[in-house]
Order: sequence, then structure tokens, then C-alpha cells
Amino acid sequence: MEKLEQLYEGKAKKVYRTDSPDLLIVDYKDDATAFNGLKKGTIGGKGVINNQMSNRLMQILEQHGVPTHFVKELSQRETLVRKVRIVPLEVIVRNISAGSFSKRYGVEEGMVFDAPTVEFSYKNDELGDPLLNTDHALALKLATAEEIDTIRNYALQINEILKQFWLECGVTLVDFKLEFGRMDDGTIILADEISPDTSRLWDIKTGEKLDKDRFRRDLGGVEEAYEEIMKRLVDHETK
Ligand code: TMP
Ligand code: ASP
Repeated sequence: MEKLEQLYEGKAKKVYRTDSPDLLIVDYKDDATAFNGLKKGTIGGKGVINNQMSNRLMQILEQHGVPTHFVKELSQRETLVRKVRIVPLEVIVRNISAGSFSKRYGVEEGMVFDAPTVEFSYKNDELGDPLLNTDHALALKLATAEEIDTIRNYALQINEILKQFWLECGVTLVDFKLEFGRMDDGTIILADEISPDTSRLWDIKTGEKLDKDRFRRDLGGVEEAYEEIMKRLVDHETK
């Protein structure tokens, strides 16, 4: 499968057309941004790690019956994926307070929830991805009620699968962001990526942050954290 012209360049990935109308190639970059692009940098080796980690996690999800866009890893940074129309919702699942949740509601990071929360943001960079509820999403016609229901159920199912997987790697899954897409026939599948860019991952023993918060908050040891979390995944495979 060959890369044809570039269709799109995002903050962390480039997307290319292929000779199949149903398939795209994504190419993961080392570029990192935060705060809606205000903070910019690079994280050496991130593209390779995010590509490989996202693909591995999506394969695990597929084994558990969650449909994803993953088709085939083509190289260290490139993956063949199903073409979808992205539902313009950022779907965030939280198990523990952190980040914008802590800020918005004035609670410390690390408060363990009795049950996971699912929240939606409107995927719109100009507006800064504002938080919205299901009624707002319906009013804006971002998705149908049935689609939102499907997305919510998948998000919670994915949380259970990933929480257990990371636990086995000695890692607490604090929160993460998902994006879903529609195939031509309207079927909803998981798209985008699942990586340390889009998840909060804390070492179970020390609480050390092994994710993009090290970059967002200038904590240092950014590359090392990405390498460490990748190592945990690889070690789990070879156990
Ligand atoms: P938040 O606490 O900043 O809302 O982030 C929640 C989770 O979503 C966290 O794991 C990081 C991820 N995330 C993204 O993947 N993209 C984004 O643009 C933002 C703001 C968060
Ligand atoms: N990547 C996002 C941005 O630049 C934000 C983040 O991950 O914190 O907007």
C-alpha cells in the first residue's frame, strides 16, 4: 500500500491518501503541542512510540470486540487505517481527578472516583474544544442520540479493558481521550490514537507521571517517560 498525496497535517500526525478509497496512512510525528497549540516542542522518538503503542492497544481492544480503524502497521511511524468521518467530539474518560477536571471543580489531583466519568468536548480548535453535554451535542447536530449512546458505551468498555491492561503493567490509568469515526455505512468505530499524548498514566507504586503531562508542565524527563511506558507495554507482551 502506497502513500499518495498528503490530505491533512495535524499537531501530531500527518494523513495520506492511498490507492484504496477506504484506507488512509497516518504518519506519527515527534512534534508535541499543549494548551491548544500555545506550547510547542518535540519529544524525540514519540512518533515511533505512539504509533506502536496505539496499534498494540487497538489490537487488544479488537480482541475484546471493540471495532477500531487499525488495519496494519507499515513502519515504525506509519500505519494503515480505515478511512472514517471523524465525529467532532473528544470523548474523555476519567477514573481519577486530574488536569482540567481538578482545575474546573477545584479538587486535588488523585481523587479516585467511585465510577468512571465520561465527558465530551466539541472538537473545534478555534473555540478551544469547549466542554459540552449530550443535549448540546444533539443541538449542534454533531452526532445522533443513538451514536452518542454507542460512543459512551464503547468509551466505558474501552476504559475497563485498558485499566486492566495498564494495571498488569504496573500503571494506573487516570484518564484518556478518544475519538470515534463513522464508516460509509454509518458504523461507529474507534479512530485517532491511544498513547501517552492522549492518556494520563501514573506508575502504580511511585505515582510518577509517565505521559505528556511531563511536557505540558515542564517536569523534565519527557523522553524517558515515553520510553519507560513503552517498555512496560513491551515487557507485558514478553511475559
Ligand atoms: P484534561 O484533563 O486536560 O481535560 O485531559 C484529559 C485527558 O485527555 C488527558 O489524558 C489528556 C487528554 N487530552 C488529549 O488527548 N487532547 C487534548 O487536547 C486535551 C486537552 C486532553
Ligand atoms: N495537543 C493538545 C493541543 O495542543 C493539547 C494537549 O494534549 O494538552 O491543543
